Amino acid sequence: MDSGFIEGIPKAELHLHIEGSLEPELMFAFAERNQVALPYSSVEEVRKAYQFTNLQTFLDIYYAGAKVLLVEQDFYDLTWAYLTRMQEQNVKHVEIFFDPQTHTERGVAFQTVVEGIDNALKDARREYGISSYLILCFLRHLSEEDAFKTLEQALPFREKIIGVGLDSSEVGHPPEKFKRVFARASEEGFRRVAHAGEEGPPEYIIDALNLLGVERIDHGVKCEKDSQLVARLAESKMPLTVCPLSNTRLCVFAKMEDHNLKRLLDLGLCVTVNSDDPAYFGGYMNENLKAVQEALDLSKEDLVEVVKNGFRASFLPEVAVQSRLQAVDDYASKTFDG
Ligand code: ADE
Ligand code: ZN
Repeated sequence: MDSGFIEGIPKAELHLHIEGSLEPELMFAFAERNQVALPYSSVEEVRKAYQFTNLQTFLDIYYAGAKVLLVEQDFYDLTWAYLTRMQEQNVKHVEIFFDPQTHTERGVAFQTVVEGIDNALKDARREYGISSYLILCFLRHLSEEDAFKTLEQALPFREKIIGVGLDSSEVGHPPEKFKRVFARASEEGFRRVAHAGEEGPPEYIIDALNLLGVERIDHGVKCEKDSQLVARLAESKMPLTVCPLSNTRLCVFAKMEDHNLKRLLDLGLCVTVNSDDPAYFGGYMNENLKAVQEALDLSKEDLVEVVKNGFRASFLPEVAVQSRLQAVDDYASKTFDG
């Protein structure tokens, strides 16, 4: 297949950790201007260190990298760099995760983080025409109490944050630990998503649905072990924000040819493709789409469906969803043979 089709199609990204878009070049620039010592001497050395065997081996390096982010300008520049790439990749809508606890734990104010990111989102709306929402993720390896404190800190910034999510070390930190925080977030009007079934068992997906009331499952690829759950996900059209390069880099699947994305799509699940932490996993939206297309031999119809699912699963108002879907159809009909 002509990779130009993937490059040109209008897309949405729903699973992107802004801290995971920190490219080594930017990491060095921030380290220098903030006088933060890095355990690496060159960009090449950083890239060489990105050899992961599971989620935790990645998270250890990812949290260390985030230490270079200190002032509002850092969060602005980081977000702007990501959005500039998205504009180049024809990404029209993004829903971005951020991990406030990674920063507040180091003495960086919640406001510094949110305003830096939000100002870049506003500028990209104006300059690139990219629509966007921000989602606050609780770190699940930390306590419920810490998550409650973080939710309190978010309340003055209510209009800048559309929803809450749950990320970090999955196994051993089940959704149940955060059911009260999610209930409170829901009362405050936040939308809800959670990482579940990335490495953890299908029960974590079931609990994210039943106990947290999530509207999307981030990853969710482990659902396949439970056929009843797969049927439920298909029936309810519950979106999965799948991240193919992340899954192979973190050894969830040994190789891309083993990925279950196509099987889940064929079973009628609302599968979307996303990049997760592109600076660490070797690719942004287009690289993820190309990798699965090639390895799983996705047809143009499959690609169009996956891309449309990205808009359907977004938190955009229905009229905006419909106009984005129309734009995808217009693009596809212009580029289909015949
Ligand atoms: N934080 C950043 N990327 C993550 C992932 N893939 N899973 C859980 N937490 C994360
Ligand atoms: Zn993630």
